[in-house]
Amino acid sequence: MALDRTLYDWIGGTYSVGRRTDPRIAARIWDALGNAETVLNVGAGTGSYEPPGRDVVAVEPSTVMRSQRPTDAAPCVGAVAEHLPFADKSFDVAMAVLTDHHWSDPIRGFQEMKRVARRVVVFQWDERWLARYWLVRDYVPEFARVGGRPSLAQRAAVIGARLETVPIPWNCVDGFFHAYWRRPEAYLDEQVRRCTSVWGRLGRNLEARAVAALAADLVTFVWHDRNSDLLELSEIDLGARLLVGES
Ligand SMILES: C[S@@+](CC[C@H](N)C(=O)[O-])C[C@H]1O[C@@H](n2cnc3c(N)ncnc32)[C@H](O)[C@@H]1O
Repeated sequence: MALDRTLYDWIGGTYSVGRRTDPRIAARIWDALGNAETVLNVGAGTGSYEPPGRDVVAVEPSTVMRSQRPTDAAPCVGAVAEHLPFADKSFDVAMAVLTDHHWSDPIRGFQEMKRVARRVVVFQWDERWLARYWLVRDYVPEFARVGGRPSLAQRAAVIGARLETVPIPWNCVDGFFHAYWRRPEAYLDEQVRRCTSVWGRLGRNLEARAVAALAADLVTFVWHDRNSDLLELSEIDLGARLLVGES
């Protein structure tokens, strides 16, 4: 199937600069894979979280993302989750990490993962937690109002998944949106922001307003006063969940 230019063909050019496997989150994902020998990584991007020592095949629609995969990474097919070009139950596990919020039809994508694999493992945020994150609550509340998609519970039901909490370490090395929850200065760095799709979705005006307000609150220690409880923590539950479903 021919793929049109995707969002990540536009915004993914520097993805591998700031987005990489965090070992503590990887340990949770790899543990959930059980003793799987064959693994399909859907929405694989540049190859983060692909488990060593297993027979991995990746699926990734963006040529820009595929081009940043290390030369020794798993073979990668240009396809989308909603139409996986594989026979029924051809993998022990299908995994998807921080990707299904980009799929045009996540329910169909999860049905497809369930069709091609005996187990499905998904790492994703519970969007109901978004408004509680200080960055959203105090600087871009507009982001919490982006809705209209199936909830995490609805998506989990498709694969009959149990949900496990995955705390985010204070020094998380994967630069996703919540990664810098205890390092607020990081969000002032344009390169950090370009590694997540959130800012592109909000648009340049909201981004500029948020960055200016955060910069001011850091200089005046308003941020520190408001979030002093965070500075004591080494990890935190921000709504990241591991979905594990067997079929
Ligand atoms: C935030 S990145 C995550 C990449 C990788 N899983 C990781 O953890 O670094 C989201 C990825 O989903 C891919 N994607 C977007 N729509 C997709 C779809 N319909 N099916 C599969 N992947 C898709 C994007 O091209 C992008 O590479």
